Amino acid sequence: MKHLRSISEIGPEAVTRILDLTDHMVEVNQRANPKVPALRGRTVCNLFFEDSTRTRLSFETAAKRLSADVMTFTVKESSVNKGESLRDTIETVAAMGVDAFVIRHKSSGVPWQVSRWTTASIINGGDGWHAHPTQALLDAYTVRNALGRTGGLDGLRVAIVGDIRHSRVARSNIEVFRALGADVTLVAPATLLPPTPLAPCTDDLDSVIGEIDVLYLLRMQMERIHDAVIPSIREYSTRFALTAERAARLGKHVLVMHPGPMNRGVEIMVDPAEIPGAMITKQVANGVAVRMAVLFDLLASTESLDMEVPA
Ligand code: CP
Repeated sequence: MKHLRSISEIGPEAVTRILDLTDHMVEVNQRANPKVPALRGRTVCNLFFEDSTRTRLSFETAAKRLSADVMTFTVKESSVNKGESLRDTIETVAAMGVDAFVIRHKSSGVPWQVSRWTTASIINGGDGWHAHPTQALLDAYTVRNALGRTGGLDGLRVAIVGDIRHSRVARSNIEVFRALGADVTLVAPATLLPPTPLAPCTDDLDSVIGEIDVLYLLRMQMERIHDAVIPSIREYSTRFALTAERAARLGKHVLVMHPGPMNRGVEIMVDPAEIPGAMITKQVANGVAVRMAVLFDLLASTESLDMEVPA
């Protein structure tokens, strides 16, 4: 695998390979010294044109745990603000010697554009409304791990709830869960669904809540919404939020997930700490291991398969 730009581009075989590799990275992360020399001499550049907490910090941590050098490019303090183009920025940083760029950008398709300007591997850290493949991989890993499965997710019933229209997480998660054999239902008002349905849809959360194994809540993407797509936040929350009443109706086995950041009081009205199946902290923890697996898959040579702690 040269790049990770979308789930559909890499296909189910690579998804399974990365999830299997993640098991090894979880084991590395449990060691007293969670560091291996696998990517010694490699350089990873985090290039975030949009804000991030989880994705940026977990890629930084993942790269360091594999002994790669890390460059973190803060756009707000860069020559982008003097008018330097995206292409000139990429070519300038690449000239310093970069093996992989992790890029987040508000425009869909930027990871494909950037891969024409550099020979480095490109990892999509989120492009516009389009894709967020490492979020999808860490979500799939979290579900697989929580259920104790080692293969796919055949027959698993997943409901993705909320602002699906503007969500790159939803698009990548639909792809990853379907690639692993799960059944996905989208739950949203019609105005927050994409024009082309990507999976069966409903606007009635209460009708599906008793029939699912995974409840995946999405954040309302306020920064991407410029029209009146819902009557009010209050009405939206009444129909689509995880309230205390709905939480009480969830089967005990149901996993509750959210990619973060959460809008408490909008899509979630209960404290996740009080929900037995809440996976939100586990998703964040698994994000480091999954991103280690992705970096390893893209950048490690076969000799690096020795994952022992350096002497
Ligand atoms: N889930 C996610 O992408 O979070 P950040 O925006 O904090 O990276």
